[in-house]
Amino acid sequence: MEVAEGRPADSATARGNIRFEGVRKVYREARGEPVPALERIDLELPGDHSFISLIGPSGCGKSTLLKLLAGIEQPTEGTVTCRGQRVTGINTRISYVPQGKGLFPWMTLRDNIELPLKIAGLGAAERARRADEWLGLVELRGFENHFPRQLSGGMEKRGSLARALIADRPVSLMDEPFGPLDAQTRLTLQQHLLGLWEKLRNTVVFVTHDLVEAIALSDLIVVFSPRPGRILEVVKVPLPRPRDVLTVYDYEGFNALYKPLQRMLLRDRA
Ligand SMILES: Nc1ncnc2c1ncn2[C@@H]1O[C@H](COP(=O)(O)OP(=O)(O)O)[C@@H](O)[C@H]1O
Ligand SMILES: [Mg+2]
Repeated sequence: MEVAEGRPADSATARGNIRFEGVRKVYREARGEPVPALERIDLELPGDHSFISLIGPSGCGKSTLLKLLAGIEQPTEGTVTCRGQRVTGINTRISYVPQGKGLFPWMTLRDNIELPLKIAGLGAAERARRADEWLGLVELRGFENHFPRQLSGGMEKRGSLARALIADRPVSLMDEPFGPLDAQTRLTLQQHLLGLWEKLRNTVVFVTHDLVEAIALSDLIVVFSPRPGRILEVVKVPLPRPRDVLTVYDYEGFNALYKPLQRMLLRDRA
């Protein structure tokens, strides 16, 4: 297993990268005890065409880390930088698929997919053209006037991917986007996402609790300790691309990655 070298945070090559420096996050509720969610996080991730997975037990702060990068939560201590710009408010360089959220139920599939373009101020004709292209890419042509309740779980997730990726941002954050789906649908979606990512060449930061999914998709895996989350390891995934998620178990090097990571994830469990 190859552990990725952390680069010094002030390195000249770090401009386009995503950086967390000395980040702590404590949630303070009006009532009750403060909840420490992330301990001291020093992490530098490549900001160009990389697929990065965050993995760790429930409650270790994975979603919190994405929210800090999206700018919808602020760190209690430390700084977050996204491609050379300090994140102090809503980060407009990213797109974001929040955990457990699907398409807006009151909008048709087409309106959902066009929404980021509408927010960006594009005209109706250009929106329609790009939405048609994306409906094709996620194989949902013919369903554009359906509402989310009229789609299967997998179709809705493909719609969510289109809505996240249509805005063409350099970084996409995806928080357990395939969470509650059956294993077969997940595999199909994983393959689909990899195909889109190969075309887009953006950076994806992907949260999952499924180690095989993390290995199948990623260039780098960031492993978190149980809450309050600390980073245990950043591991490179040297498997060749393009990858076939169905046969990832058969790739040379799969076991050498899987076994120590699985042990690391199980270590602190009761
Ligand atoms: N808005 C919030 N207010 C208070 N506590 C929170 C809030 N969001 C998350 N937490 C707590 O912070 C910890 C980390 O949460 P989260 O980032 O959602 O973990 P993960 O995504 O790894 O499961 C958990 O203990 C959770 O209960
Ligand atoms: Mg979460």
